[in-house]
Amino acid sequence: MRHLLSAGDLDHEQARHILDTTEQMARLTTGRTVKKLPALRGRSVVNLFFEDSTRTRTSFELAAKRLSADVVNFAAKGSSVSKGESLKDTALTLEAMGADGVVVRHHASGAPHRLANSGWIGAGVVNAGDGTHEHPTQALLDAYMLRRHLGELRDRHVVIVGDVLHSRVARSNVLLLHTLGAHVTLVAPPTLLPVGAQVWPCRIAYELDSVLADADAVTMLRVQTERMNDAYFPSAREYARRYGLDARRLALLPPGAPVLHPGPMNRGMEITAEVADSDRAVIVEQVTNGVYVRMAVLYLMLAGETGVTGETGESGDVGDAA
Ligand code: CP
Repeated sequence: MRHLLSAGDLDHEQARHILDTTEQMARLTTGRTVKKLPALRGRSVVNLFFEDSTRTRTSFELAAKRLSADVVNFAAKGSSVSKGESLKDTALTLEAMGADGVVVRHHASGAPHRLANSGWIGAGVVNAGDGTHEHPTQALLDAYMLRRHLGELRDRHVVIVGDVLHSRVARSNVLLLHTLGAHVTLVAPPTLLPVGAQVWPCRIAYELDSVLADADAVTMLRVQTERMNDAYFPSAREYARRYGLDARRLALLPPGAPVLHPGPMNRGMEITAEVADSDRAVIVEQVTNGVYVRMAVLYLMLAGETGVTGETGESGDVGDAA
């Protein structure tokens, strides 16, 4: 894997391979006092974050460190970006320092593609969320979670609810789940659906109650008020009443259907605290598995012929830790 820019770039076999590698990463590090594997010893990973993040940045940092890579965390705040330095000059600086992998989050849709395809850098690029466009590693971790809870995803029905318009998670999830053979229904007010969503490989509904009984899992999306410069719904209370997941709606889901949320959550808006803290919510487990998914992505992108135990000639099989 040279870069990971879009969930839509992965075919069925590649997506399954990342999920299988994730499973191996989880197996190799869970329950161990020393969680470090030598697979990326001598490689360097730069986390290039132009937008705020808690889960993604931290889990990429942990993932790279668990694979023994050197990690540099770069935040636009406090860097020369605040003095006006361009993406190109920032990239050239990283290239001069010899970064092998760049994990980029940017407020502009397409920034990771620009970085990967510009020829500015030789490093592999991972899209850690670009504007309202895509967040492929979130989709991979959501698919991994769904596979753990539901088994094979073929013909499973996943309902994704909320602010699709501003969500890079929704688009990446629809693309990846479709590739894996699942069926997706997006539920949102018409004002929070992007133009063109009608041609995405999914169904669209505007009313939540009626689709829940038929769902194998439900993902609640954060209402991204920071990206809203207009009124998309009458009030937070009205939104919660029509599209929020509360105890009454939770009871409409089939028993055992997990509730996902990529975080951060607006408790009381798209999800009540009661549901978020219930045993049906797998939100904290998503965060844990996010580290394993990012280990798998960095390993497949950067390890080359180096196996997870540090020997050469093991590419494609992470094997067992020494
Ligand atoms: N889900 C997600 O991308 O969270 P962060 O913004 O905290 O990284």
